[in-house]
Amino acid sequence: MRRYSRITGTGSFLPPKRLSNADLAAQLARDGIETSDEWIVERTGIRARHFAEAGVTSSDLGTEAARRALTAAGIQASELDLIIVATSTPDMVFPSVAAILQDKIGANGCAAFDVQAVCSGFVYALSVADAMIQTGAASKALVVGAEVFSRIIDFKDRTTCVLFGDGAGAVVLEASETPGVLASDLHADGKHVGILCTPGHVSGGQVLGDPFLKMDGQAVFKLAVGVLEEAARAVLAKAGKQDTDIDWLIPHQANIRIMTGTAKKLKLPMDKVIVTVDQHGNTSAASIPLALDEGVRSGRVKKGDLVMLEGVGGGFTWGAVLLTM
Ligand code: UT7
Repeated sequence: MRRYSRITGTGSFLPPKRLSNADLAAQLARDGIETSDEWIVERTGIRARHFAEAGVTSSDLGTEAARRALTAAGIQASELDLIIVATSTPDMVFPSVAAILQDKIGANGCAAFDVQAVCSGFVYALSVADAMIQTGAASKALVVGAEVFSRIIDFKDRTTCVLFGDGAGAVVLEASETPGVLASDLHADGKHVGILCTPGHVSGGQVLGDPFLKMDGQAVFKLAVGVLEEAARAVLAKAGKQDTDIDWLIPHQANIRIMTGTAKKLKLPMDKVIVTVDQHGNTSAASIPLALDEGVRSGRVKKGDLVMLEGVGGGFTWGAVLLTM
């Protein structure tokens, strides 16, 4: 009998500090940076984002999301045999956020590592966890996306600082005789490293290079729309499903215009798309599990639904996971 992996619980956490576009515009204006609620809403669909307080790390946010996912799954942290955290804003250079989070939730002893695929990180991590469960290398996995992008945003660059937010989402993935994850499709093209990156690094006791996020927004936008359709079509084909079979599209939440463009290509009405970008901004690797948890807890995403998760981001990376809830 084939061994599948299945999501048995979801959870998420947003830091309490919330800034509306007006709040952020007022803060930026104090430094002479001009922006407006109108521009941000029209170009991105974002209305608010959450920022972690100083000293609060990705592992702190991820721990809260993980606890909620474990409660939803009805299992103890000690039962986990695998933790994968997707993040581009780790607590420290090493060890991994996964190792730090493992100790905080009390899952000591299980395998724990991070995946770094920027905004595609969660679909990469979920796909790796699924593969490990399918082979028998793991049976109960925790997959987390956790970010504090506020730490790498240049608040003097209005073209990027209005876009991002902090948060975390998590799922418990367990071995199952029934699917579960049906198919995944992952890609990267490193020739596009420069269009979305945070080039700074630690060397000789100093940060060398620019430690702030840089993005060529239009280049990213154009690539994103094309690859998201390709990845969606690839997982549908692998699973023998049609676009009309999809109950919920849960894409990376970067820009409502990218999401509507993708939905249109898949012939899905927007009421089949879970949208959180308006309230969270772009939380990178956390955005998909945050949106999935929102869909589940609001009662829209139900057991048995066919769900398409899709990520795209720095690297350039992209990918999709098709699953039955
Ligand atoms: O998470 C990984 C994936 N990331 C993404 O998917 C992001 C993809 N890119 C985007 O979402 C969009 O390209 C942006 C939202 C980043 C930008 O939207 P756009 O429609 O491509 O705008 P633009 O960069 O062409 O800028 C248009 C104008 C410029 O002014 P001029 O040159 O036309 O006079 C900008 O200077 O808007 C100006 N502008 C702003 N104005 C007010 C840029 N940022 C702002 C701002 N407030 N915050």
